[in-house]
Amino acid sequence: MKRLLLVAGALCAGAALAQAPQRLFDGADLALGERLLKEHRCAECHARRVGGDGSAIFRPAGRINNAARLRGMVDYCSNELNLGLFPEDVDAVAAVLDRDHYHFERRLDGSAKR
Ligand code: HEC
Repeated sequence: MKRLLLVAGALCAGAALAQAPQRLFDGADLALGERLLKEHRCAECHARRVGGDGSAIFRPAGRINNAARLRGMVDYCSNELNLGLFPEDVDAVAAVLDRDHYHFERRLDGSAKR
C-alpha cells in the first residue's frame, strides 16, 4: 500500500511538471533583440507619443497582459511597419521588452532577478 502511494505521488509530480507553463522567451537572443529595438527606432516613435524615453507606452497591466500577447504585438507592429522581422527576431525583441518592462516570464518561476 505504501508503495502504491509512492508511485501515485511520483506520477502526480510528473504531471505537475508537464503542466508547468512554457516559457515563451527561453532561448531568445537578447543581444539581437536589443540591437533590433535600436535599429528600428521603436523608442523614438513611442517617445513622440508618450514623452520621456518612450517606455511609458509599455503597460503590463493593459491590453498586453501576457507573454503571448506581447509577442503577438511585436509581430503585429513588425508587419505594420514592414520591418521584415524573422520569427526569431520577434522572439528576441519581445524577450527584451519582457525583461525590461513587462516581466511576464519572471513571474512564472518567482525569480525576481535575471
Ligand atoms: C511609427 C510609430 C511606432 C513605431 C516605429 C513603433 N511603434 Fe510600437 N506603438 C506605437 C503606438 C502608437 C502604440 C500604442 C498603440 C495603442 O494606442 O495602444 C505602440 C504600442 C506598442 C506596444 C504595446 C504597448 C502596450 O503595452 O500596450 C508594443 C509592445 C510595441 N509598440 C512595440 C514596438 C516595437 C518592438 C517597435 C519596433 C520594432 C515599435 N513598437 C515601433 C507606435 C510605434
